[in-house]
Amino acid sequence: MAETKIFIFDTTLRDGEQVPGCKLDAKQKIEIALELERLGVDIIEAGFPISSPGDFRAVEAIAKAVKTSVVCGLSRAVEADIQRAAEALKHAKRPRIHTGIGTSPTHIQHKFRSNAEEIIERAVKAVKFAKKFVEDVEFYAEDAGRTDNEYLARVLEAVVAAGATVLNIPDTTGYCMPDEYGAKIRYLVENVKGIHKVVISTHCHNDLGMATANSIAGIQNGARQIECTINGIGERAGNTALEEVVMIMRQHSSLGFYTDINTRMLNPISALVSDRMGMPVQPNKAIVGANAFAHSSGIHQDGVIKHRETYEIIDPEEVGVDHSKIVLTARSGRSAIAYRAKNIGYDLTKDELDRVYELFLEIADLRKEVKDDDLHEIIGQVRGKGRAAV
Ligand code: KIV
Ligand code: ZN
Repeated sequence: MAETKIFIFDTTLRDGEQVPGCKLDAKQKIEIALELERLGVDIIEAGFPISSPGDFRAVEAIAKAVKTSVVCGLSRAVEADIQRAAEALKHAKRPRIHTGIGTSPTHIQHKFRSNAEEIIERAVKAVKFAKKFVEDVEFYAEDAGRTDNEYLARVLEAVVAAGATVLNIPDTTGYCMPDEYGAKIRYLVENVKGIHKVVISTHCHNDLGMATANSIAGIQNGARQIECTINGIGERAGNTALEEVVMIMRQHSSLGFYTDINTRMLNPISALVSDRMGMPVQPNKAIVGANAFAHSSGIHQDGVIKHRETYEIIDPEEVGVDHSKIVLTARSGRSAIAYRAKNIGYDLTKDELDRVYELFLEIADLRKEVKDDDLHEIIGQVRGKGRAAV
């Protein structure tokens, strides 16, 4: 029985939208925010209000429109940013300011030309300033993945004392291995005074394809919020994919975690985000790719037709897909042909099926996929009627 709720923090409209080519206008951002709320997302990161007047207006409009989810605005550890975020969130029912600063040696030396102590001071000052506007303040330690754990613990202890309610531990560059990231979260749980009063959040990038694994390692070690995006979009190789972490928790109920996500909306919302952003979903993408429930080799098709679970661990309906797809290719076998023929209205005899299969293979070797129309033609020829009557 899953007992521990994991908060889903969606950053499609901030980390996702900052990707080249993914920009949305305010109307599209509101449309997606409302769908995210219906999906059951706990926190919607609506944008980075100081980044442009357009983004400010979009965050403001989302703050007004969203009723139940927390609406969050990003800022740097800079007073003007925080003030702008607070203004944009003024009408939110449940506002959150997300502020923070880089804590890794690279960020401290090269980005800020600063030193470790000064970074702690700036972090604390930012959290205290944000607390003047809202109760709910999330602090991010940018590049926490490459930050020394002892120093990270000192930064976090200071911001918890300053009033931070959520601690975000980003693996900004997607560098960490899952055991390393998990151990980092565990270290913080065990070494930061006051950490039990706040929520620890994961924010993993996918540069080495480990964002999902790292997020799961994070919650297994004490994090209770996952930051993620629809379709895994986000800077460079992207962020943790919402649909993946949600379905991992659901399929592996023995982990003991649950979310409030309505999984039947996962495919529709994936299509919506992809359409509005003009960002296609790779066909082999887990859960939401066009091939996620498609079977094309004869061995797999035969297995799925006999018993779906032979090759599927998720019921497609559970994630908003009508049914599994049997795709006819040169690797398909007789049982797939019989199955598809039946779907389009033909009950083939064994002899007919043998002849249809022979003709099918000739066509299939020339094409990537044999469609229903082609199958009609083939069956028509075998039955000696041109296109066959169904
Ligand atoms: O990847 C990152 O570190 C971020 C922070 C701004 C939260 O997106
Ligand atoms: Zn990020």
